[in-house]
Amino acid sequence: MGIFLFYFGILVLITNYFSLTFSTPLFNLATDQHALTVLKNSIVSDPNAILHTNWSIHTPICGWIGVSCATKHQRVTSLNLSSFELRGTIPPHLGNLTFLRVLDISSNSFTGVLPSELSKLRRLEDINVAANNFSGEIPSWLGALSELRHMNLANNGFSGRIPSSLFNISRLRELNAYLNQLDGEIPRNIGKCKELEVLQLKSNSFKGGIPKQIGNLTSLRVLHLQFNHLTGMFSN
Ligand SMILES: *[C@@H]1O[C@H](CO)[C@@H](O)[C@H](O)[C@H]1NC(C)=O
Ligand SMILES: *[C@@H]1O[C@H](CO)[C@@H](O)[C@H](O)[C@H]1NC(C)=O
Ligand SMILES: *[C@@H]1O[C@H](CO)[C@@H](O)[C@H](O)[C@H]1NC(C)=O
Ligand SMILES: *[C@@H]1O[C@H](CO)[C@@H](O)[C@H](O)[C@H]1NC(C)=O
Ligand SMILES: *[C@@H]1O[C@H](CO)[C@@H](O)[C@H](O)[C@H]1NC(C)=O
Ligand SMILES: *[C@@H]1O[C@H](CO)[C@@H](O)[C@H](O)[C@H]1NC(C)=O
Repeated sequence: MGIFLFYFGILVLITNYFSLTFSTPLFNLATDQHALTVLKNSIVSDPNAILHTNWSIHTPICGWIGVSCATKHQRVTSLNLSSFELRGTIPPHLGNLTFLRVLDISSNSFTGVLPSELSKLRRLEDINVAANNFSGEIPSWLGALSELRHMNLANNGFSGRIPSSLFNISRLRELNAYLNQLDGEIPRNIGKCKELEVLQLKSNSFKGGIPKQIGNLTSLRVLHLQFNHLTGMFSN
């Protein structure tokens, strides 16, 4: 009986330890694995069989090609599938990768829209979806990702106006949205992005004058606005 109670006590301790360390956060490595597995299942074409052979459920996701994890808490911090020649859509589950800092899915053939669940990626610093076939409006929730420094939406089928919320991101250093079908005026609140270094909006259908607030961006190094319908000089 004494021995039994002793082992029972150890069991309770171990159980508590595991539930405290592994189950307390609502989202954990299993959430990340689920999100990536759903992404893998959303790929309809993987001509080099990169995900097909490498993203095996029998190996830990932190060793999967294109996936990096933090050494401390073993959550996915970077997903880089650039130029894998993938075709498919982005599932809402990617929004569960809540420790993600880098999302680079550029130079593939992803279609559809960026799901609004990606607005849960509060730690995102770098998003690159360039050179795909995304359509619809640029989502205004991107402006709520306050850690973003690099945003690349270039060479897609984005249409409509550029949401002024994007210029609420005070740390934004790079915004590339060239080669889309964007129209309307360039938002005047662009002057709020004091750290902007690169602004490439060429080859769209922007109208109106060039906001004079751009002249206040003292870090700006690259400004490409050509091939639009912009008129006149700086305007209010
Ligand atoms: C997947 O790719 C990574 C990086 O190239 C490699 O280290 C790993 O061994 C591969 N895993 C499998 C199961 O092929
Ligand atoms: C993603 O990987 C590509 C190719 O390996 C690399 O050129 C690119 O810089 C990476 N993206 C980011 C955001 O680090
Ligand atoms: C992750 O996200 C999807 C869709 O946004 C949701 O249905 C799912 O329950 C979420 N949670 C986990 C733990 O996978
Ligand atoms: C891009 O998407 C549109 C529909 O949104 C489709 O008509 C077109 O064929 C796609 N282009 C490519 C290259 O996949
Ligand atoms: C931008 O931020 C201000 C406050 O900082 C807020 O009032 C406004 O609604 C935000 N604009 C957008 C378009 O999100
Ligand atoms: C430019 O910056 C100066 C000093 O911060 C400010 O007074 C002025 O209103 C700004 N002009 C524009 C067009 O934002």
